[in-house]
Amino acid sequence: MTTHGISRLPWPASTAEHRWYGLGRYYAMFPAPFVTNALTEFTRPDDMVMDPFSGRGNAPFLAAAMGRPSISIDILPIAWLFTVAKLKPSQNADDVLSRLHDIRRAVRPHDCRARSEFEKMAWSSIVRGFLRAARRELNWKESSVDQTLMAFIALHMQDSTPSGLSNRLSPTVAHSPSYAVQWWAKQGLLDPPQTDPVAFLTKRIQRRYAFGVPNLAHSTTKLGDARTELKVMPSQYVRLLITSPPYHGVTDYWNDQWIRLWLLGADMHKDWKRTQKHSHLGSYRKLIDGVFTQAKRHVREDGVVIVRCGDKPTTADTCREAIKSMWPRWEIFERRSEITRRGKASGYGHESKTIYEVDIISAPEELSDRARSWAVNPAL
Ligand SMILES: C[S@@+](CC[C@H](N)C(=O)[O-])C[C@H]1O[C@@H](n2cnc3c(N)ncnc32)[C@H](O)[C@@H]1O
Repeated sequence: MTTHGISRLPWPASTAEHRWYGLGRYYAMFPAPFVTNALTEFTRPDDMVMDPFSGRGNAPFLAAAMGRPSISIDILPIAWLFTVAKLKPSQNADDVLSRLHDIRRAVRPHDCRARSEFEKMAWSSIVRGFLRAARRELNWKESSVDQTLMAFIALHMQDSTPSGLSNRLSPTVAHSPSYAVQWWAKQGLLDPPQTDPVAFLTKRIQRRYAFGVPNLAHSTTKLGDARTELKVMPSQYVRLLITSPPYHGVTDYWNDQWIRLWLLGADMHKDWKRTQKHSHLGSYRKLIDGVFTQAKRHVREDGVVIVRCGDKPTTADTCREAIKSMWPRWEIFERRSEITRRGKASGYGHESKTIYEVDIISAPEELSDRARSWAVNPAL
């Protein structure tokens, strides 16, 4: 079974690297050992690492914490926020705590009003007011202090414990408002917890900063479409491109995150027009081809490309073909593995499900032996 790998991080629990790695609930993320193993096998300190579909930022964070500069991109604001908050956190907790108090002072009476049954049952009026003030006041795209605070709020606005900021919610996948309301009613969870958001977040912020901030190599992380970002970026000299693209027709990254995206400025409902499920095969191929076409310019001739993707042929074939057409002279090796993941739950419990994934590795001839032996090892 693959876990998020937090217990298998290369740093002791009493380090900032260990403490900050876990910031951000996100699914389909890389297990830490998968990334640290690839970094150890194929890079040295100061080698550039790139992840153009970086999710909550596991690969760039682990690379930077192991002394490798990183470039990462994600199109989803919440994924980028968790990444930037880890890679460039505010340097001290006091600034974040002081901003937390600013937000409390900025709450206006009408911020506390529930606009729907969902809002009424999800958060107490004090939490609702706090979330609305944070949504209005925090400059999460530009200010490092505001980014850090916003990441803490986003992490806890959707809590699964009865003493958190919200009524019980799945902490990763946001269900529809009507499903949530019916589910709470059925469980008798009619009232949200009366938690003080400032006291609650103060504890979490202090805990995260208990060992300071991680010592990281230089990292660049962009919010946007990887096709565009890679095109406009000056040429890099990437030793390892390690990534996991969206799988064809599997996850709707936008609608599954709608509650946190509301905090970042989107409307308070799922929006099917904004779906990011990548169900249309033609557009999916265009996305994967487009990203690898742009990535090619940045990868060194003695670089390595590693892609973890779903084993469904429409996903794996698309990824394999894109790599082959960009690096036609490189050899490709693959391994298929069974992964047990905490799946998307129908209720708010965490059901496990088994899925199959493929790791594709491509490297120039001089690295073929190492790439081949990497691919015959069991997946991490
Ligand atoms: C499988 S997840 C990656 C998870 C990541 N490996 C981690 O450890 O968290 C795929 C990611 O690709 C992002 N994505 C989808 N389309 C994109 C695009 N055009 N440009 C950049 N990122 C994109 C999604 O938002 C999602 O976060």
